[in-house]
Amino acid sequence: MRFLRFSFLYALVLCSVVAHAQLLPEQGFVSTAHPLASAAGIEALQQGGNAIDAAIAATTALAVVEPYGSGLGGGGFYLIRLNTQPTPTYLFLDARETAPSAAHKDLYVRDGQVQPSLSLDGALAAAIPGIPAALDALNEYAQRPMYENLQSAIQLAEQGFAVDGVYLERAGWRLSALQQDAESSAIFLQQGQLPQQGWHLTQPDLAGTLKQLAEQGGQSFYHDKLAEQMVQAVQQAGGIWSMQDLADYQVQWRTPLQVSLANERQLISAPPPSAGGVTLAQSLLILQKLPWQQAEPAQKTHLIAETLRRAYRDRGLLADPDFVDNPVDRLLSSEHISALAASIQAHQATPSSELTVAPVIHEGDQTTHFAVIDRQGNAVAATLSLNMMFGAAFTVPGTGILLNDEMDDFAADLSGSNAYGLVASDVNQIEANKRPLSSMSPSFIESPNSFAAFGTPGGSRIPSMNLLAILAHLEGQSPAEWVAAPRIHHQYMPDELGFEPGALDVRTQAALRQLGHRVKELTRNYGNQQVLYWDKQSGHSDAASDPRGQGVSLSAE
Ligand code: GLY
Repeated sequence: MRFLRFSFLYALVLCSVVAHAQLLPEQGFVSTAHPLASAAGIEALQQGGNAIDAAIAATTALAVVEPYGSGLGGGGFYLIRLNTQPTPTYLFLDARETAPSAAHKDLYVRDGQVQPSLSLDGALAAAIPGIPAALDALNEYAQRPMYENLQSAIQLAEQGFAVDGVYLERAGWRLSALQQDAESSAIFLQQGQLPQQGWHLTQPDLAGTLKQLAEQGGQSFYHDKLAEQMVQAVQQAGGIWSMQDLADYQVQWRTPLQVSLANERQLISAPPPSAGGVTLAQSLLILQKLPWQQAEPAQKTHLIAETLRRAYRDRGLLADPDFVDNPVDRLLSSEHISALAASIQAHQATPSSELTVAPVIHEGDQTTHFAVIDRQGNAVAATLSLNMMFGAAFTVPGTGILLNDEMDDFAADLSGSNAYGLVASDVNQIEANKRPLSSMSPSFIESPNSFAAFGTPGGSRIPSMNLLAILAHLEGQSPAEWVAAPRIHHQYMPDELGFEPGALDVRTQAALRQLGHRVKELTRNYGNQQVLYWDKQSGHSDAASDPRGQGVSLSAE
């Protein structure tokens, strides 16, 4: 009897040890939106770097090969997993841009009206960049010198690369804005026109700036000659940057949003100034209370859309945590989640107008995302942005630095909402040195047995895309299926259920209309998920890049 009891206890302890034992990833992976950036990250891993080294190499390579998506003149968020024992350490690096100190709530108002083009195109649209400072912050956890991690980017900028269809499509969309800025036109266009397929893009000025950062660190971006060049160019073009704004810029290490889900899973995601992590967490918590997994396609889509409708409504209450007291705990409380879940009707869509109003979201949809895991189990998921394609389409002469138009992520237009909406908009209004609210939400799902990373560009659709990929993971699908999953989207306002061409068949669309949804087929596919998976029991690791993009996932032994 005594022996039996002993063996039972022993077995219990052993089981829990086995369940939590960890076999390190068999392979490291780098998954980015561009093959040359994935190659740069893999090179860093193969030359003895860890996931952070690969993240630095990928960040800077993407700044060269995806000038429409991210760059030194932009910002972003890095979610990091350090494989510390007995539990992993999660870090969140907020390198979001900040409003210049001369910015104010009426910055884009002319003759009593907000002029949207002013926060989209040109120097006045640019906030103070965060990526160069992020490189220094990441470097604290890197194993290789900054100089080595930036070599791939420097070579790509110096030697150039042939532009592809994605580049041409995006340059085409931003053609007139690029043509309006002489420096951008000279670098990114061919004799002022859309380049031919295969045209070779070289960026010698950007190579020079990258060399400076490689030798002197990211902080050198914010001082002395480079800062003077940027401030002078911005001011001459009608912008409001000052030397002090650059000197004052700081990244923030924030506590990641961490939420317990069913089955011992944790969601680790972006806290404010991103609203994306909260939207994602609310959605997962609400869906845990709904029978979405057993539902037939129309009902499943309905439950997901109704969940998104409610979570996106709440995102308008969030803003820069250095300026406002965000109600994150309240939004994720069990009372609030239960009330939201209970308000979803199985057989009827709730018109958004019947939910209390929150502000309309207005965000750019060009950004980039990458993911890295090394063989020690350290990982990075990063979403980086210039906001719109090619940012503000304003390049600082002689530097190759294309500036963001992230100021457009503030709520510039406070008119037209009711009291609740106005308060919600108010929190994200333009203020000096403030970070605009974002949807970027690099995310991890971790349990004792597995780890997975998610993320994508796509403006306001980022949280819904991350949700769909995570749901595919929870259903036991493979990483290739997570990224390929057809996409549907609801963001509360406008009150419509959007779907990618082909994502919903005609019968499902009809059934959703019956439920009261305004179903809308979108004109094109969207998003560019880059994901990672690590089975901690077997050591099997995997990654996948969205088939909608040209990105690749490369592995390193
Ligand atoms: N600019 C896109 C975002 O921050 O969500």
